[in-house]
Amino acid sequence: MDKNRFNPSGNIFDLKQFGEFGDVNPSITDSSTYTFLAAQTMVDTFHGESEGCFLYSRHWNPSNKYLSDALAAMEGTPAAWVTASGMAAITTVILHLCNAGDHIITSVTTYGGTFAFLQNYLPKFKIEVTFVNISDHESVEKAIRPNTRLIYTETLTNPLLQVSNIPKLATIAKKHNVKLVVDNTFVPLIFAPSMLGADITVYSMTKFVNGKNDCVSGAICSDASFIDAISNVNDGTAMLLGPVLDPLRSSSILKNLHTLHLRMKKHSENALYLATNMEKDGMKIIYPGLHSHKDHDLMKSLMNPDFGFGGMMAIDMGTADKAYAFMEKMQNAGVGYLAVSLGYFKTLFSNPGKSTSSEVPEHIQREMGLSAGLVRFSVGLDHDIEVIYQRIKNCL
Ligand SMILES: Cc1ncc(COP(=O)(O)O)c(C=O)c1O
Repeated sequence: MDKNRFNPSGNIFDLKQFGEFGDVNPSITDSSTYTFLAAQTMVDTFHGESEGCFLYSRHWNPSNKYLSDALAAMEGTPAAWVTASGMAAITTVILHLCNAGDHIITSVTTYGGTFAFLQNYLPKFKIEVTFVNISDHESVEKAIRPNTRLIYTETLTNPLLQVSNIPKLATIAKKHNVKLVVDNTFVPLIFAPSMLGADITVYSMTKFVNGKNDCVSGAICSDASFIDAISNVNDGTAMLLGPVLDPLRSSSILKNLHTLHLRMKKHSENALYLATNMEKDGMKIIYPGLHSHKDHDLMKSLMNPDFGFGGMMAIDMGTADKAYAFMEKMQNAGVGYLAVSLGYFKTLFSNPGKSTSSEVPEHIQREMGLSAGLVRFSVGLDHDIEVIYQRIKNCL
């Protein structure tokens, strides 16, 4: 991506968002409802026709608007809406785009919760789903039917770190008039899916965007008409299912968003150091920053080079028992925590087959190449990563 053309962290910093008393952090909205001086303004607001007025916090509130505007600036989308979790963002988008009888094409490697929603929950609404290898563009195109509404993928898939070729998928989606929805949770700032042709970008902000592991939250970034449609009082999925983010959380995430550029650089630097050295030591490492990763060149051609290859990497320990022993030793040795989730300032590790991807049946895990012994790392912000590397080596 041409960095002169798109500067996500610069765009966040260029927003002037101060509070009503000149507070450098915008005032926090502590209200579920809002007064109107004139009854007609309330009527207009219900019809979505009065700019700058707030009606009710499930619909919009000032704190969520500040955060949404900053996320839209980061993504280069005209608008955004913030949700109470990443799953709330994903399910709101899918349920809004699809009606009963529609069809979805998705990467088979996605976060386990997304897989479970697509596989186990959507049949309730007679929405059919075809799971494909998202790098096999011929299969993606072949899977399109007259009732296909969307192609779903993750920029860097969880947990196998496969890179989606978003421009290619966007071309296929546009040709067949279907939407391309991309989960960019693993690689904020590194990728801006909308700049590469995605129609809608979703986030679990629980992870890198917030970076503190103190809450769950999510976001939907898209054009203004989609954001208006999901928040429409009559038939908007966000307005009617109510997955809104609490404004107190919005304001703390907005502050954390302003350090995301520093954090992503450090996560990437530390992950590249560990991956490079552990590969040299003969370990089987999956990390897109390594030349041995099959999508290394693709990622290089699409990414924003300022922020590295991201903080996620995986080691294949062969068997689940070896993975468990390794993780327990690492926790005891002070490498980090044996915990799910990612994007935290400390290193987290887990065995996806029995945790974050346990919703994916074992035979599908094997088909997609997910080894029972895989240990997924979310590499932290440690100042001295050499020390952490030595501790990991002592656990092998
Ligand atoms: C890639 C990805 N997308 C979405 C989610 C769901 O997010 P949340 O837990 O915030 O609902 C996760 C959670 O682990 C994830 O890893």
